[in-house]
Amino acid sequence: MFSPSPYAPRAHFKAIPMSKRSLTFVCQNCGAAYNRWQGKCEACGEWNSLAEEGAERPAGPGRKPGKGRLFQLQDLAGEATDAPRTASGIAELDRVTGGGFVKGSVLLLGGDPGIGKSTLLIQATAALARLGQRAVYISGEEAVAQVRLRAERLGLSEAAVELASETSVEDIIATLSEGKTPRLIVIDSIQTMWTDTVESAPGTVTQVRGAAQALIRFAKRSGAAIILVGHVTKDGQIAGPRVVEHMVDAVMSFEGEGSHQFRILRAVKNRFGPTDEIGVFEMTGEGLREVTNPSELFLSERDLGTPGTAVFAGMEGTRPLLVEIQALVAPSSLGTPRRSVVGWDSSRLSMVLAVLEAHCGVRLGGHDVYLNVAGGMRIQEPAADVAAAAALVSSLCDAPLPAQAVYFGEVSLSGAIRPVAQAGSRLKEAAKLGFTGAIVPESGRESGDQALKTQEIGSLTTLVAEIAANGRRKPAKSGGQDG
Ligand code: TYD
Ligand code: MG
Repeated sequence: MFSPSPYAPRAHFKAIPMSKRSLTFVCQNCGAAYNRWQGKCEACGEWNSLAEEGAERPAGPGRKPGKGRLFQLQDLAGEATDAPRTASGIAELDRVTGGGFVKGSVLLLGGDPGIGKSTLLIQATAALARLGQRAVYISGEEAVAQVRLRAERLGLSEAAVELASETSVEDIIATLSEGKTPRLIVIDSIQTMWTDTVESAPGTVTQVRGAAQALIRFAKRSGAAIILVGHVTKDGQIAGPRVVEHMVDAVMSFEGEGSHQFRILRAVKNRFGPTDEIGVFEMTGEGLREVTNPSELFLSERDLGTPGTAVFAGMEGTRPLLVEIQALVAPSSLGTPRRSVVGWDSSRLSMVLAVLEAHCGVRLGGHDVYLNVAGGMRIQEPAADVAAAAALVSSLCDAPLPAQAVYFGEVSLSGAIRPVAQAGSRLKEAAKLGFTGAIVPESGRESGDQALKTQEIGSLTTLVAEIAANGRRKPAKSGGQDG
């Protein structure tokens, strides 16, 4: 099946020809198959992840040549209709899906246990049911009574959601094929489902893949939209069914810090919509509440005038989002000082620290550095570099930053501050929330708002000098001392 191309990943050389695949060892992490047991999966590097699994019936290649059915090839130009969607009415959810659930599409929702996946989905099915659409919620983890109890707590008892506690995919498909096709079917979770066509134990990669395949086929055939819930492992991967990620139309992840009430829904893959939009929710006693103005929420508990905090004017998709970046720089007693970061990329932090050391004379080799994005938010944009650097220097020099100013800009390795996209929207959001100043890259556009004064800064050195000038402590010029 595979020609051993020198560019193919190594694991493919090991792949077993379909005809010989009677008993195989399948990596439970990535789905690679081997004909012998071994301690480490060569495809993904995971240890002890191989499990013996029964064979899947060989598909395509097993068929005799000459027996195929002829089909019509078509032109690229032709009638293309917009994907027919059903909006849930939960605006933050619809924003992430790209305007609603697409007919016949399958969406995988991943997230840590207890983050609120079941809560979100029971709310979504109830919202659809209230709009008069047929919505079905199938739980493989909880009994019907438990789901009802949750619905009662959420005040959704009277919504016409159809419930079941089932794990057999064949039974589910047979039942749902009867009567009017449901608009939305929730399967909570894909790891608990099993199909007769595969001989492995429930929860194994082969079962999960088999069950997902059957459900995807059903979705395409019937036109129902299906949401599969997937559990996430410690390191943030959707456990086992990473293979499923490739099969579905969209992958969303539901995130949040355990101690915070905010939950963020993010699209990781979306065949029918954007992948950079986020939906923000707040977990309350009555379920998930939509947060329509996240900036206000993320800035609501700000300590004004404390050194080490800077407000970053970020963008999440088409929506500007202001968040507070907090830094603590303290002399270290360790041989190798600590670098700890929550909500931002740690290699990005290392880079900013290196630029501060190399170009701005800020010595941090003897300091522990902690960086945190407030509210449990996770930032992916390089535009946060300047805000992070400002917070770090502010903490080091004990120099509070102006409380009414926002920061954005990308730091290059040369120490220059680079312009970033959508400066206008960032400034507009800052002005709307009452900020009066902005530290922006050179050629960052005018704010267009009289109330907001922009200050253009071309290099990190200038920014550091400006912050340090107001400091009660001078940055150490030689390693380790705090002078
Ligand atoms: P759940 O939706 O069961 O999480 P998941 O399906 O992702 O495992 O949510 C469980 C958590 O949410 C649980 O710790 C309690 C909390 N919760 C609330 O705070 N308020 C509520 O109204 C509900 C239903 C749950
Ligand atoms: Mg659940």
